[in-house]
Amino acid sequence: MDRIRIVGGTPLNGTIAISGAKNAALPLMIASLLTPDTLVLDNVPRLADVQLLKRILGNHGVDCMIAGKRAGQNGLSGETLELTAGEIVDTVAPYELVSRMRASFWVIGPLLARMGEARVSLPGGCAIGTRPVDLFISALRDLGAEIDIDGGYVIARAPRGLRGGRVSFPKVTVGATHVALMAAALARGETVIENAAREPEISDLAACLIKMGAKIYGAGTSTIRIEGVDRLTGARHPVMPDRIETGTYAMAVAMTGGDVVLEGATPDILQRPIEILTEVGAEITATNHGLRVKRNGKGLSPVEVTTEPFPGFPTDLQAQLMALVCRANGTSRIRETIFENRFMHVQELARLGADIHLDGQMATINGIDRLKGAQVMATDLRASVSLVIAGLAAEGETVVNRVYHLDRGFERIEDKLGACGATIERLSA
Ligand code: EPZ
Repeated sequence: MDRIRIVGGTPLNGTIAISGAKNAALPLMIASLLTPDTLVLDNVPRLADVQLLKRILGNHGVDCMIAGKRAGQNGLSGETLELTAGEIVDTVAPYELVSRMRASFWVIGPLLARMGEARVSLPGGCAIGTRPVDLFISALRDLGAEIDIDGGYVIARAPRGLRGGRVSFPKVTVGATHVALMAAALARGETVIENAAREPEISDLAACLIKMGAKIYGAGTSTIRIEGVDRLTGARHPVMPDRIETGTYAMAVAMTGGDVVLEGATPDILQRPIEILTEVGAEITATNHGLRVKRNGKGLSPVEVTTEPFPGFPTDLQAQLMALVCRANGTSRIRETIFENRFMHVQELARLGADIHLDGQMATINGIDRLKGAQVMATDLRASVSLVIAGLAAEGETVVNRVYHLDRGFERIEDKLGACGATIERLSA
């Protein structure tokens, strides 16, 4: 298994191109199931999760082609994917595939809307918590589906098609909002989704569905209204920039010091993380090309942060922020409210010398002067990257094991950081 070796202590200086967002690319690819025509997606990141989803969609009959390079594209640009679900050949999403990536459960929405049936494996738990699917099931029932659970599968049927309805989520859920949106786009009549997730990736999916002919109003707010249409067509859509990748590299610069332009980053979808980073001591400015992040010699200040649905501070940046404030001058507190078990990085950061105490959903981080390199291992994507950024600031050598977690969500991380002066390399097994 590949490992990443880092020798810490060098400031980051230069430019990092921000990739297309994993968490937008995945639902956009799944939306290809809604139409027999071709959906063309530009700026798709080259990630293990994207590769796996190609296989999963292929199983349902989606033809997935990588388009040739166009003028202005280079090896650093994302891919252009042409996805065509001319005929859905299978409405079953098996355990072997769904258990490897939770977002593949989301195929249930488009399969049911287009084919009137879907049989999708329950995804099961994962390293960051139990992650149930009750809110997906209640939303699809609100749209007229009959749902049974049998043998570890969710069996959804709507023989006469889905009909519009009122979907009112008791808590904010990104995945079930994506699914309700896709299902309602092809349902008969009007659907209103209340307490919808407001994450920018929801707006990106809605923008693409609208290009495909869907009638969607209010995406990005907590009430979304959809007038169902009979059929959707092909379209072309660029995947939005990755706000979590942007926030991660911004924290890396805040941690090591230096001056980096995050090219293609959009500040308006990162307001809360930018506020927090500024409070910690980074200088962040919007430029014509993206975001410029600087920190020159000043110490880091401690912060109090609670993770929340958008526009609050994202859970997907919690581990990276924790790595950063390990070296603050004072005590920080971070409360995780989205997932119950998203603190797997704590004991690994401790291996680098961090002083962190956990009490339920609250982590108390007593800042220390310096971290020291060590062997570490991580159990999920964002935890892994928090160890990479901690390693960049630690004295001596850090080796991050189980790099496959990183490859799920960060494109060419060692090249991007290496180009800014970090000593970082991949050790192939
Ligand atoms: C999405 O996961 C993201 N994944 C996650 O990114 C992200 O952490 C999360 O949203 C929160 O922002 C993708 O976009 C592919 P949720 P999702 O449904 O949709 C509970 C990463 O590292 N819930 O918004 O699975 C759930 O357990 C990841 O890129 C129910 O109770 O998250 C959680 O506590 C990991 N019942 C809360 O809602 C349900 O039926 C929010 O989860 C569904 C969810």
